[in-house]
Amino acid sequence: MVYAIDKAFPALIISLLLAVLGYVVAYFAIAWSRDTFLAQGLSGIDLLKVDRTKRIPTAEKIPESLGLPCAAVYLFLVLIFIPFRYFGPSHYHVTVHSVHQDLTTFLSALLSIYSGTLLGFVDDVLDIRWRYKLPIPLLSSIPMLVVYVASGGSTSVVVPAWPSFLHAFIQGASVDLGILYYAYMMLLATFCTNCVNILAGINGVEVGQAIVIALSVCANDLLYLDFGFVFRQAKDASSSSIPMHTPPEVVARHLFSLHLLLPFVGTSLALLAWNRYPSRVFVGDTYCYFAGMVLVSAGILGHYSKTLLLFFVPQIFNFLLSCPQLFGLVPCPRHRVPYVEKGKGLLVPSCVRLARHTSSWKQFLTSIILPLLQFLRLVAPVYDTEGNQVGVSNLTLLNAILVLRGARPSVIDSAIAVQPVAQNGDPALRVDGAPGTLAITERSLWYYVMMVQILGSLFAFGVRYWVASIVFPITN
Ligand code: UD1
Ligand code: MG
Repeated sequence: MVYAIDKAFPALIISLLLAVLGYVVAYFAIAWSRDTFLAQGLSGIDLLKVDRTKRIPTAEKIPESLGLPCAAVYLFLVLIFIPFRYFGPSHYHVTVHSVHQDLTTFLSALLSIYSGTLLGFVDDVLDIRWRYKLPIPLLSSIPMLVVYVASGGSTSVVVPAWPSFLHAFIQGASVDLGILYYAYMMLLATFCTNCVNILAGINGVEVGQAIVIALSVCANDLLYLDFGFVFRQAKDASSSSIPMHTPPEVVARHLFSLHLLLPFVGTSLALLAWNRYPSRVFVGDTYCYFAGMVLVSAGILGHYSKTLLLFFVPQIFNFLLSCPQLFGLVPCPRHRVPYVEKGKGLLVPSCVRLARHTSSWKQFLTSIILPLLQFLRLVAPVYDTEGNQVGVSNLTLLNAILVLRGARPSVIDSAIAVQPVAQNGDPALRVDGAPGTLAITERSLWYYVMMVQILGSLFAFGVRYWVASIVFPITN
């Protein structure tokens, strides 16, 4: 049976074995290197373990950027894996030309992943400003896009069959976006690398989300591998003419995606073992960028970038919710992670002081968006003792979950409210939960985020295979 699987889906078994090996090697690589990272000054304070009842924070330093050994182990394993893709029993007719083309595709993915990891590590060491680090993934995606063009990747999108005038309007069932489609793929690379980084700050959440997305994508890939065919072949070994249902090039693309993602899941699980609550290491921006690049490379070169985006629904939500802070309508403090209550170890939404805008359109936009978000219970207002709104909870998914569960910031003293922003210019407002507020632990919040991510994946499968078959009937 294993032989039959290997014959139909070359190197899939090797990929699975590398995932297991990846787990073991990455686990020990992190164990061995974490003290060195600490000694080199790569460390951070666990913001949610600081005992705020003590004058001096007692939290110890935790080694930071341990996404680096995880990414290094992954990249080595994938290099070792290269020969297995081409030498072994296979149904695919391997010619020198197809090896060249396939290897180019594989290497372009590796190049993008290497540059994503490098950017993340440089960011951890140098703390690059947002405006500089945003365009870099655009450049990292160039090799991938060139290969996408060369391999005849489609730049068309299917237009919904409903409302019916759309097809009449564009005179067809699909529209070729041409250069716009490449712009979309470049932006996708920037989005995927940054969105993991901004849904961060509680133990285990960066790796946890990446693992759920990767496993969901793997499940989607498996749907395209015709295992019925393998069973029929194994039963009737004499026949070599049993047809496979899915076209070979589609199977090859989803195999390519599994080859990239299975070792990624293995090495990420090892990192999660160290990073889950209570964290013994932090993953750093290195891991966030590395994970984003692995996922986007698999999505673009596997030709399923739109489906991939569906699995990022919680990240898209977190990004859209964050926009007023990322684009300067609401001040954005250095850290937006939830606030841990004095001496209780329970999380309440962290808050930020509102700014008065000099520009009238910014003031206008803020006066529409904030009340709407407050009405939707995604954001909680902060009032002073005189009843003026002086702040809001930070606009992140993590805080929104707390607010939706009923956590509210307490009223703050008007005297404190009018004090100018702290010396370092950080607009954060340190507010405890209102009396009787429903606060939860950091561990519980991690489970909530994972639940949201899993529900997001179920939603993605629903949209991809049920809604799409209604709205785009010709694609199914
Ligand atoms: C992003 C977020 C920031 C969030 C930070 C946390 C935006 C725009 N930026 O910034 O709001 O506070 O990630 O990662 O959304 N840390 C913990 N516990 C954890 C993980 C991290 O306390 O489980 C703290 C540690 O002090 C660690 C630091 O966060 O050293 C890492 O922050 P960094 O990755 O440098 O922040 P950014 O990515 O710039
Ligand atoms: Mg970060």
